[in-house]
Amino acid sequence: MVRSKIAGIGMYVPQHVVTNNDLLKYMETSDEWIQERTGIKERRYAHRTDETTTTMGVEAAKTAIERAGITPQDIDFIIFATLCPDYYFPGCGVLVQRAMKMKEIGALDVRNQCSGFVYAISVGDQFIKSGMYKNILVIGAEKHSFGLDFSTRGRNITVIFGDGAGAVVLQPATNEGQGILSTHLHSDGDSAEILAMYNPGTHANHWTPEKLADFDDGEIGELFMSHAMIDNAQLFPNMDGPAVFKKAVVKFPEVINEALTQNGLTIADLKMLIPHQANLRIAQFIQQKLKLRDDQVHNNIQKFGNTTAASIPIALCEAWEEGKIKEGDLVCLAAFGSGFTWASALIRW
Ligand SMILES: CC(C)(COP(=O)(O)OP(=O)(O)OC[C@H]1O[C@@H](n2cnc3c(N)ncnc32)[C@H](O)[C@@H]1OP(=O)(O)O)[C@@H](O)C(=O)NCCC(=O)NCCS
Repeated sequence: MVRSKIAGIGMYVPQHVVTNNDLLKYMETSDEWIQERTGIKERRYAHRTDETTTTMGVEAAKTAIERAGITPQDIDFIIFATLCPDYYFPGCGVLVQRAMKMKEIGALDVRNQCSGFVYAISVGDQFIKSGMYKNILVIGAEKHSFGLDFSTRGRNITVIFGDGAGAVVLQPATNEGQGILSTHLHSDGDSAEILAMYNPGTHANHWTPEKLADFDDGEIGELFMSHAMIDNAQLFPNMDGPAVFKKAVVKFPEVINEALTQNGLTIADLKMLIPHQANLRIAQFIQQKLKLRDDQVHNNIQKFGNTTAASIPIALCEAWEEGKIKEGDLVCLAAFGSGFTWASALIRW
């Protein structure tokens, strides 16, 4: 059966560097706390008005398409993973189609947060394998800086996240043995509220005993987004950090081992693990647990923070640009995040 390969890869991060000390202007925190708990030294923030999740995705896509040796008109399907779309609807995929003057091809948005890029790759992989498409553009991009709580109340989340984008072009592999060997997708919705942005949404406090939104429950109106939600700071993301940490350190090694085992491979065969850049301490824990050497794991959260759906393609692109990944190398992508969802992809480069 034909496999899909990554034919081109690109990344884009905004120019504006925000250090941990820069955040002191807005909240009570410290460079020491952030570095010790997360490994992050700085992150990038998009230009407030000139840049959006989609425009950053387009910049990454331009590089990926050029490196694949094709043009935007050759792309026959778009998959866009993000949790901060330009519009509530439609999704970013169609905005990419417009911005890059592509043909009237299909565009699909993926809402799987930190696992979004691996889920998107998996979807693209199935389309290539089935023979339906030949040049699929997969983008992961986030403009987190627009939606975070910059007061001390939101510091446990805000210090972690950064903006950026990564993109790949998937094509049918031509070399024997090359390409995506397998993908593995999982979810556990029991923990949906542990890392989530509840509002605006249609949940109407249905799922939890705890009230997640204040709205005027009159017959119509003032339900989806209310003044009370704004007044009570209910329009920001929420996270129980320690609960996320505990689950992540179990599920990451599990899904990496699943990918290796399914392909009759072991950790020793792995040239490079690209873990979702959630937290340096989580990545270090996985490395220790799987007994991986330093040169087998690529981390860049120190520079970019957690860029959610963009973190894996950015890290993969950087590792490839630095010459750490070469043809024939075995590369594993692994992600865990909100949902909870987790996923892996094993690739023979
Ligand atoms: C978020 C995270 C860094 C917090 O670290 P932690 O050691 O678990 O810290 P806690 O949440 O228990 O908070 C410890 C203290 O630090 C404080 N704190 C939280 N954020 C802070 C910040 N930015 N600066 C200073 N202090 C902070 C808390 O208020 C708390 O204070 P208290 O003890 O007086 O109540 C950590 O839980 C984590 O990384 N979890 C995984 C998150 C993740 O990966 N998310 C992305 C998933 S894709």
